[in-house]
Amino acid sequence: MTLFDVYPLFNVSLTKGKGCFVWDDKGTRYLDFYGGHAVISIGHTNEHYVQRITAQLEQLAFYSNSVRIPIQDEYATLLGRVSGYDDYHLFLCNSGAEAVENALKVASFVNGRKKIIAFKGAFHGRTSGAVAITDNPAIKPPVNDDAHVLFLNFNDSAALEKAFAEHDICAVIIEPIQGVNGIYEPTPEFLKDIQRLCQAHGAFFIADEIQCGFGRSGQFFAHQLAGVQPDLITMAKGMGNGFPIAGVLIHPKVAAKYGMLGTTFGGAPLACAAGLAVLEEIEKHQLIPQAATLGNYLMDECRQLPEVKEVRGKGLMIGVEFNFPIKALREKLVYEHHIFVGNSSNPNTLRLLPSLTITKEEIDLFLEAIKKCLA
Ligand SMILES: Cc1ncc(COP(=O)(O)O)c(C=O)c1O
Repeated sequence: MTLFDVYPLFNVSLTKGKGCFVWDDKGTRYLDFYGGHAVISIGHTNEHYVQRITAQLEQLAFYSNSVRIPIQDEYATLLGRVSGYDDYHLFLCNSGAEAVENALKVASFVNGRKKIIAFKGAFHGRTSGAVAITDNPAIKPPVNDDAHVLFLNFNDSAALEKAFAEHDICAVIIEPIQGVNGIYEPTPEFLKDIQRLCQAHGAFFIADEIQCGFGRSGQFFAHQLAGVQPDLITMAKGMGNGFPIAGVLIHPKVAAKYGMLGTTFGGAPLACAAGLAVLEEIEKHQLIPQAATLGNYLMDECRQLPEVKEVRGKGLMIGVEFNFPIKALREKLVYEHHIFVGNSSNPNTLRLLPSLTITKEEIDLFLEAIKKCLA
């Protein structure tokens, strides 16, 4: 059997990782400036993370959600404190798309509606509900049509008002920083308009923090930079540093009902151990303010590079848009300088998503290499 060939792969076989570096099967070291797609938050094979997961593996790897699993409560308590959302409830699941599905379900179960407002360029995942609210026909099969979705432009408050006036809106879902599309941010005023209109119309304000959350923006959640408070917050990627764990934070006004949501693997003890290690490392090493400071340094330096049209983002979620397509530049970085960076839906935009543990010296390695590529 061979793998179903759905990913365009780099010709590199990775076998090892430590901190912000990974190694291939021939022993070549690569700087990971991509974080395995914004997933690596506390560095590869972080010591505390390995210990936490190993200790849990020796105690209890799994049991179903038919009994109390104390490490789930431990995780919820710590997440509440670190995120500032300790009055919210937590539903644990396994992947970003699943978190989005569950957020949509909560909204629709509670207000009984089905019209969703999403945004142009949005990416929310590949399962049926998530892909329907994703603005990319190429990944949307007919069975997942988006007849119940209105795609609006970022920052168009008039269109938002009009949509609320004309439709019975169930929820508005927005990435506080759009990732896959190439790092675009709505204005804080627009996020406030979404909050205001959702409150006035009994709709749910859903922030998709799957890529921009968990400290990446220099705040725990990117929407906190705008001073808004969504009703539902989806999380994944950086939450587990590579161990599959995802979740939805749910406003206390929502009453849980048995059967409303459920999962076999969600909240597994091993996943909670991984999640706890991430939060503990974020707190212990002050990784969030560090992401803000080093992100500003990296963005300022990128603005000085030749042929740069625009640098967008917050913290360590950065889009560098060039005046030319970046495919060859990205390949040169990988094959000649041994550095991984991300691409995006915008062919001219590189995405930089390193681990929050990245150092100034490692950032300088990247800057040196990209300067050589552009010379
Ligand atoms: C903002 C956002 N939402 C949802 C998803 C889907 O997450 P997953 O691939 O874990 O299903 C992604 C993945 O890139 C994402 O960036």
